[in-house]
This record gives sequence, C-alpha cells and structure tokens, in this order.
Amino acid sequence: MKWISFHSSLAYAILVVHTASFPQLVAGTPFIAKNALKSWLQKRGDDGNATSEAVRYIRIDVSGEHAWRPPGANDKRGPCPALNAMANHGYLPRNGVVNMLTGSSMFGKVFGMAGELSLTLALYATLLSGDVLSLSFSIGGPHPGLLSPLLGGGNGLSGSHNKFETDSSVTHGDFFLFKGDVNSVQLPKFKKLLELQEDKKKPNFDLDVLTEHRKFTLQDSISTNPQFFYGPFSGLLVSNAGHCFIPGMFANFTQDNPKGLLTKEILMSFFAVYEDQDTGRLTHKRGHERIPENWYRRPPGGLLGDYGTTVFAQDLIRMASKYPQLLKVGGNTGRVNSFVGFDLGNITGGIYNSLDLLNLQSLVCFIFRVLLVIVPDTLQGGLLGGLIKVALNLLTKTLLPLVDPKCPGIQQWNTKILEGMPGYGKKGV
Ligand SMILES: *[C@@H]1O[C@H](CO)[C@@H](O)[C@H](O)[C@H]1NC(C)=O
Ligand SMILES: *[C@@H]1O[C@H](CO)[C@@H](O)[C@H](O)[C@H]1NC(C)=O
Ligand SMILES: *[C@@H]1O[C@H](CO)[C@@H](O)[C@H](O)[C@H]1NC(C)=O
Repeated sequence: MKWISFHSSLAYAILVVHTASFPQLVAGTPFIAKNALKSWLQKRGDDGNATSEAVRYIRIDVSGEHAWRPPGANDKRGPCPALNAMANHGYLPRNGVVNMLTGSSMFGKVFGMAGELSLTLALYATLLSGDVLSLSFSIGGPHPGLLSPLLGGGNGLSGSHNKFETDSSVTHGDFFLFKGDVNSVQLPKFKKLLELQEDKKKPNFDLDVLTEHRKFTLQDSISTNPQFFYGPFSGLLVSNAGHCFIPGMFANFTQDNPKGLLTKEILMSFFAVYEDQDTGRLTHKRGHERIPENWYRRPPGGLLGDYGTTVFAQDLIRMASKYPQLLKVGGNTGRVNSFVGFDLGNITGGIYNSLDLLNLQSLVCFIFRVLLVIVPDTLQGGLLGGLIKVALNLLTKTLLPLVDPKCPGIQQWNTKILEGMPGYGKKGV
C-alpha cells in the first residue's frame, strides 16, 4: 500500500482553520484506527481467556414511558428497523425527528453501539439527509420542522437513496424495484433469511448465517434490479453493515448465551413481521418494529464490549473472506445480470485497494477516510450558500479526532467509472 502524508486534503485545509475552536466531541477516543486493533483483540479475549472487565448484562426496559406504541399519523418511520423500534419505545422522540447527539447516545444505551460509531452514523445522517443547524435528522421521510435542509430538502433517511438507504439490503427492497418504497420488508427476502435456520434445533441468526444471506441479497439485486448500484460507501460499507449489525446488536446477550442468541422471534419483533399461527403466512406491519420483552442488549465489558468501528471492520472482513466479491464496487449497467465490479483502487487513486480492506487497520482507516472525502464531494452543488461551511466544520470537528493521521488520506476520489451506471443517480456514493 502507498502511504501518503496527511496534508493536502480538503480536510486538512479545514482543520488548520478551525481546529483550535472546536472541542472534541468524543473525549477519550482519539485515533480509533491506531489503537483499535490491539486493544480490541485484547478485550475480545481471542484466546478465550476471561478479560479484566466484568460483563454486565442489561435488560432493556419496555414498560412505562418505554412501552411500545405504534407511530401516529405524523410520526416519521423509515428503512432502519432499529431506529423505528427505538422511536416506538420512546428511546428516540416518537415523532421520529432525532437530534444527532441524543441519537448517538441512545444507540449506545439501547443497542450497545460504541460512541465513535454511533456518532459517526448520526453525523452522516444529519449531514446528508438532515438539518445541520438544528443538528437533527428524520428517521423517515421529510419533516417540516427541519428548517435548513441541505440536499434534497432534508429528505430524511427514507429519501437518502445511495447515501444511507441502499440497494441489496437485508430484508428491504431496492429503491428502483419497488417504486421507491424502501420502508417495507420484502417478505420473500425475509423468508429466505428464516429458511437458513429452518431445520435447526436452536436457530441462531449469527454472523455466519447473515453471511450466507449476504450472498443471496447481493445476487438477488444483481439478478433482479437493472439499476442495482453498489458504491464504495453505500454498498461496500452501508449495505454490508446492515448484515453485520443484525447479529451484532439484535441478539439477546445473557449469561446463557454470552455471544448472543438471535432467535426467529426476536428477528420478527425487530422487523415487525408477524406469522399467522394457522397458515404460517407472514405479514409486515410498516413502522411497528418492536424491542422484545425480556431482551438483553449487547453488554459492555466481558468478551464482546460495545459494537464499534473495529468490531464492524472485523465482521466485514469475516464476511468478505468468505465472499471476496463484497469488496468490489460497481453496479448493473441497465440490464439484470450485467454487474460490473471495479477494484476500489480505481476510485481511490490506488490508496485503498479492495484486498487491502481484508486488513483490519486498513479497513478502519478507510471507513473514516472515505467519509472525509465523500461528504464534501456529495455536498458540493447540493448546498445553499453558507451552509456548506457549517456542514464541513461539523464534519471535521466531529470526525477528525477519531482518525489516526497516519491513515492515508484519499486525495483523488475518482467516481468517473461509476457515473456511467444507471443506478448511480445523483451523486451516489
Ligand atoms: C490464556 O490462558 C492460558 C491458559 O491459562 C495461558 O497459557 C495464556 O497465556 C493466556 N493468555 C493470555 C493472553 O493471557
Ligand atoms: C434472553 O435470554 C434470557 C436468558 O436466557 C431469557 O430469559 C429471555 O427470555 C431471552 N429474551 C428473548 C427476547 O428471547
Ligand atoms: C483499474 O485498476 C487496474 C489496476 O491498476 C487497471 O488495470 C484497470 O485498467 C483499472 N480499470 C479502470 C476501468 O480504470
């Protein structure tokens, strides 16, 4: 791999101008990429030894103020089952409009997501589908309360196709195939997932099962969606994250199952899928996602610890080692089964190549570096006057403290080869 120095990127210019005036949002977690590998491997106890941190199993309260209630007519619900479920239990505002910082801390509280990852995701949602002045975003469609929308009118996550909402998701349909309905579970896809554990004595939808399902979801989009797009961010990172997050954060973590047990019942509850006891017929109730009773989140401490960027990177590497095609980016060319996949090196000017990402540290570097390059690129032209400055400041003050400066920056971001693809649309990433 070619390592280039840190200076010269747009990010650097902004850093020089603004760093002094910004406090670090995530105190105590600088340079994730640098220290992550070592500390994480130690913590996870790869050798099976107990770790020094005591594990704490935490049951998530679904009573009282956190009792489940379906969304009202004006409440926003969108493509992400975890966010919908949190809103239905009042862990996020029930109207579905979420402040970036509150959202980030709630992802940690309810699902055990680490602060650096939850903040990164909430930041990205705010920048690309929300409101940078009020620091909020809608978990569903556009919300009139968001006054300073950026791209496409603060469209919320439901309107963030090829940015946050992506093709080849775990259970939802592709934007193009379902006339933009990205909020519904496509039951045949959900059934495929259930079938993978159908004849198991103790069904557990763990990472290996989701990896099997990943093969199917990718191939399914290739063979049914002429406009299928699998970008370096939307495809390689986001759509794969969807597959990794499910076993990593929906499972029930207890002393009985310290690595988590994700049963069919838990899966159906989080995805708002109901089964008719007599006929076995499945139905999906949009927006009715629910945290199960007696469900224990991913615990802090112990063998696992919070789900952070490094854990995700490790999970993705495990998937991609079985299925290297996940590391190529591209799309169909207007017909089904016409997928053209490029090496990531063609887009990053050779700084990050697809196979490099099988290295944990390189993948963690790439995750942060790609955000620092695509957000400014995507915002260009979609932005109103001074807002771009606000947005870029927010990006750098939040993200830069997390990135090891030794992670090679991406100086050239060349999407020309992707732009010809019909699914690329407006600034797909
Ligand atoms: C794990 O435990 C084994 C057996 O007790 C021991 O030999 C080994 O050194 C331990 N490893 C670490 C990293 O502590
Ligand atoms: C989670 O596991 C505990 C302990 O095995 C069990 O009592 C509880 O019912 C499980 N919760 C769910 C939602 O499966
Ligand atoms: C992608 O990169 C490889 C290796 O550098 C090169 O051989 C190939 O021609 C490039 N493809 C495109 C479409 O630029």
